[in-house]
Amino acid sequence: MYYPEDVIENVRSSNDIVDVISAYVKLQKKGSSWFGLCPFHNEKTPSFSVSGTRQMYYCFGCGEGGNVLTFLMKYENYSFQEALQVLADRAGIRLPEQEQSPQQKREQDLRQSILQVNKMAASYYYYLLRSDAGKTGMAYLKGRALTDETMHNFGLGYAGRGGTNLIRYLRSKGISDELIREAGLAGTDEKRGMYDKFWNRVIFPIMDANSRVIGFGGRVMGDGKPKYLNSPETKIFDKSRNLYGLNFAKRTKEKYLIVCEGYMDVIAMHQAGFTNAVASLGTALTSRHAALLRRYTEEVILSYDSDEAGVKAAMRAIPLMREAGVRAKVLDLSPYKDPDEFIKAEGADSFRMRLENARGSFDFTLTVMEKQYDLKNPESRTEFLKQVSRKIADFDTEVERESYMQAVSERYNTSMDGLRQMVLRYLVQSPASLRDDYDGEEPVRRPAAKRKKSDEGLVSAQSMILTWMSEYPGFFKSASKFLTPLDFTDPFCRKAAGLLYAQYESGSVNPARLVDSFTDPEEQSRAAALFQAPVPSGSEGELKGAMREAVRRVLEASLAGQEEDGVIVDLASLQQSIERRRLLDDLDRMEIDLGLGEGV
Ligand code: GTP
Ligand code: MN
Repeated sequence: MYYPEDVIENVRSSNDIVDVISAYVKLQKKGSSWFGLCPFHNEKTPSFSVSGTRQMYYCFGCGEGGNVLTFLMKYENYSFQEALQVLADRAGIRLPEQEQSPQQKREQDLRQSILQVNKMAASYYYYLLRSDAGKTGMAYLKGRALTDETMHNFGLGYAGRGGTNLIRYLRSKGISDELIREAGLAGTDEKRGMYDKFWNRVIFPIMDANSRVIGFGGRVMGDGKPKYLNSPETKIFDKSRNLYGLNFAKRTKEKYLIVCEGYMDVIAMHQAGFTNAVASLGTALTSRHAALLRRYTEEVILSYDSDEAGVKAAMRAIPLMREAGVRAKVLDLSPYKDPDEFIKAEGADSFRMRLENARGSFDFTLTVMEKQYDLKNPESRTEFLKQVSRKIADFDTEVERESYMQAVSERYNTSMDGLRQMVLRYLVQSPASLRDDYDGEEPVRRPAAKRKKSDEGLVSAQSMILTWMSEYPGFFKSASKFLTPLDFTDPFCRKAAGLLYAQYESGSVNPARLVDSFTDPEEQSRAAALFQAPVPSGSEGELKGAMREAVRRVLEASLAGQEEDGVIVDLASLQQSIERRRLLDDLDRMEIDLGLGEGV
């Protein structure tokens, strides 16, 4: 599935990014760039910029960025191949036939075939629901207050009496038994042979973010067991990677997505106008789900059932969200069980009010933990505060930690100093020593927190250097005498540096091309941010001073890191290290020709 780089480069350079994006976003020229309202987040003043010279876009508001290919991938949710195909067509370029190993080709064909079978099955169920044979299913769904339009939008269907109806239908369309099994649509019985996996159930086709049917959920109409039956995992169906409703919800301009538990909850919310709702597919939320969510939003409102299981699920989801960089809030649905029931009883306006009043995840956590302790008992109260401090220590920034300590101090009438001390203890402990039976003794001070903070500065110095290097060849020329890509300790910066150095070596620097070397969308955005033209500030002298300082900082850190890691094991590497240390002294005399003439 890989095209040679020059093919990609040819397609990209034949599609001017300003032309392509203009078809989606109204752009206005300002200086050397074009600006418009960002299509990836809600905003009133344009912070979305497109650069014709760099062939890249970047939003100063939300940080989305990339080249013409990534734009289509993000806006249309195309895969890389799809985006490439669309742009090749647009420019009248024929892509070479793909070379695949026979194994890859088989896998690819199988996935395509399963998608095709699923589509057939979905339309079979769809028509059955709307036929005479589907009356029971239709009555059930109407009884749950779904409109025809909603049923149509979600492609709801009905699996009839059972036996082999679907199997016979698919066979009549020329589908092999093997493929029917691969799609998870049949079970096999020793005596009876193959039989329909779903029967006597209303059917919820499960679609991926690109609206392709990847599996099915079926609900029994009444009290049978299991209540919901889902497709097994197949070559294209992985529950931990997909969210029900995402194909619709991804288009929302709300700043958050609603995450709930059930198919019916998603559907009820969408019908009530909350088209930003998704559900995990009958499994607990995973870190993959969290990463998927992060691609579409920075905030989620968890709206799990208001029973004990729902509270537990929320408590598990909160740290996953934080780790993925998604802010979480929690919806209070009481006295109703789930969003579906709430909306039915109270209506959409009331639901919207609850959404607006959703509590921050920390507030929610406190309320849940509070119930596990007797706060009137001094011992229990101390234990409670310890556990709370531990949660606070999980937050990355001091600003967050301080503000939560403040909240706890006020809410439980306890001193800030005491709290700060407890939080600090957890903060400086290594994870291995984080034990439940923490005995309160002062742990050995490891400056973990401090180290983390200075790392942030180091990473930003490394990023700045890369930005300057891409903008000023003269700076690259001088700085590359002091720094090699290996001196960039941040893995992302190191990779970007490697690519940039290689481009300089080959004689042509092309930022838009660099972005393609990153496959992960997060990394693509980071790369676009990195190679966006820097905002000029200060005098040329100040800029050069800042450059020297950044180089010094990165070089020093790299040298220190090598010593710490014990890279210096023999005499030769010791000498090399001494030479490199000497470089530090030379830094003051580093000549930088920015080719700017007068001023910046
Ligand atoms: P309704 O009773 O139709 O309103 O469903 P619900 O969404 O309120 O059901 P519940 O809260 O019991 O379940 C939430 C989600 O968990 C469902 O949408 C299913 O995805 C999943 N689920 C529930 N019951 C089962 C089951 O028996 N088996 C499996 N595999 N998943 C289930
Ligand atoms: Mn329900």
